[in-house]
Amino acid sequence: MSDDRLIVALDVPNALSGLQLTEKLGDAVSFYKIGLGMLTGGGMALANELKEEHGKRIFLDMKLFDIGATVEAAVRGLAQFNLDFLTVHGDPHVVRAAKEGAAGKDLKILGVTILTSLDRADLDASLIKPGDMQELVLERAAKALEAGADGVIASPQEAALIRALPEAEGRLIVTPGVRPAGAALGDQKRVATPASALADGADHIVVGRPIWQAEDPRNAAEAVLNEIKSI
Ligand code: C5P
Repeated sequence: MSDDRLIVALDVPNALSGLQLTEKLGDAVSFYKIGLGMLTGGGMALANELKEEHGKRIFLDMKLFDIGATVEAAVRGLAQFNLDFLTVHGDPHVVRAAKEGAAGKDLKILGVTILTSLDRADLDASLIKPGDMQELVLERAAKALEAGADGVIASPQEAALIRALPEAEGRLIVTPGVRPAGAALGDQKRVATPASALADGADHIVVGRPIWQAEDPRNAAEAVLNEIKSI
């Protein structure tokens, strides 16, 4: 009963516990996100094993940012592996370079707009122009998509606004910050349920702790799949 609109974040301490978690989830989950914490501890090997031996789809959450030539080279290297999604910061020069690096491959480049952990005070501290956060997220999303991003990462609370952008036509919206009703929020603030994120126009939802910290992760994943079945 897997449904690749659900992406499970493998934010566990190392590749071995990542593999054990995927074994528990079995055929219920077909798409995994591997982030920087895991990547520095054997995550690429795990990504390749899950893809090549278990037929899973893989989202590498690397949030790359550098000069164009370096981003292009980094993405060209990653694009040799048969993976599915890669995040870069949504700055137009980064997105353009990443798309060059991925040319001719199936790897989809997703632009990060503004990290959901940042608030307006953080943006001021980083000398980001004044303005309402949501407006800036929308502007950043439009710029990343204009630069050729295959999609963007957004909070589910921004999904509907981004979906309405003309630039978003045919592009992906992937939303972390998703919590089944009643689940602990952890450090996530701007959350929505799986069903409402998808109803608002997200193509994929990323769910981490509510699944991997659950006593029975497979049950927790199946509850999410059940919730989104009719959307
Ligand atoms: O455990 P939880 O469901 O909050 O995990 C969400 C995942 O999505 C984490 O891996 C986190 O790093 C990632 N993420 C996020 N917000 C973003 C981008 C990625 O929470 N803006």
